[in-house]
Amino acid sequence: MRVLSVIGTRPQYIKLAVVNRELVQAGIEHRIVDTGQHYSADMSEVFLSELEIPKPDVNLSVGISSPSRLNQIAKVAKDSGELKRLGEFNFVLVYGDTNSTVGAALAHQRYSLGEKLVHVEAGLRSGLDTQPEEQNRFVVDHLADLNLAPTATAMKSLHAEGLGETTSLIGDVMLDLFLGTIDYTPESVVSRYAQGRLLCTLHRAENLDDLGQLQRLVQALNDFSQSVILPMHPRLKLRLEQSELALPPNVEVIAPLSYRETQDLLRRVAGVITDSGGLSREAAWAGAKCLLVRDVTEFPELLSLGCLVPDPQLEQTDFFERDYETADLNKVHQAFGGGVAAQKLVKALDA
Ligand code: UD1
Repeated sequence: MRVLSVIGTRPQYIKLAVVNRELVQAGIEHRIVDTGQHYSADMSEVFLSELEIPKPDVNLSVGISSPSRLNQIAKVAKDSGELKRLGEFNFVLVYGDTNSTVGAALAHQRYSLGEKLVHVEAGLRSGLDTQPEEQNRFVVDHLADLNLAPTATAMKSLHAEGLGETTSLIGDVMLDLFLGTIDYTPESVVSRYAQGRLLCTLHRAENLDDLGQLQRLVQALNDFSQSVILPMHPRLKLRLEQSELALPPNVEVIAPLSYRETQDLLRRVAGVITDSGGLSREAAWAGAKCLLVRDVTEFPELLSLGCLVPDPQLEQTDFFERDYETADLNKVHQAFGGGVAAQKLVKALDA
């Protein structure tokens, strides 16, 4: 069996890590294409080396030269023609909901890159039609031959959209990686920042591209009594520069962190403020207190299990001083498949 994975952004390197390991262990030939949507070394290369992902066979370098979202999608769809030289594949795997995901799915249609298109992390829905990631997810799910769902809710959404026959519930591959690294993540230099502080990440277009919203969030950070560590995402950096907004003095900006540094910090800080789907899940899995800077989530189980609190305007500035009943971590992990998603992925390809 020959499998091709197309990745290109930070969360996709993370998702690929355990999938690659499992495919290789099963003796399956696995080739990797990096679209290059995330091109800065601290958003890409560091993940490849730290997570022991082999050097991609091809890098399409679409990131720097594609100014707009549609441009980025079109460039992946068009430039993927050169992947034909890698030969025929049984399965083409695309991950998550980025512009690279939808670009690769379109390329698969256009160039017949393999027999079947497989969407890893399928069926997630926020219900927000205007959100770029929601549009990407919807298109890819409806193009895929096999939709691998991370949660029961995602399965339900796929069934509701008439995609039941394409679906299989495997769990969340990010939980596999999280649980596998829990015991051997070394203490990193960022730990010295952690005690009593909050970890904050912001990167979503809906929070950063609306100046009023960005201004509100920046001001709100100042109202937390804790100091805040903020690993800077390039989109946030750009928006702060364009708007000439300054972060308050209790916010310490650091460069983007590697996967292990993030996991290490997550376990030591007093709490997490984030709009990231990945980090909010990891906070839940680690039992950390977490404010979600959104009013919706693609993972409603995180709300029903009491793992995080939505606060789209960051109004709950005393949240981390309040008592908090921790969720049952075993139940939380089980809701995301318990850490065997990559094994089930390989079985689903074999079926
Ligand atoms: C993308 C994904 C989002 C994912 C996020 C993780 C889409 C629609 N969004 O958002 O789903 O959660 O990645 O980070 O695909 N830039 C750099 N260096 C880089 C990468 C980007 O400077 O390595 C700049 C870009 O030029 C752009 C901005 O950062 O100006 C935003 O990057 P972009 O690739 O548009 O998407 P993200 O906001 O990172």
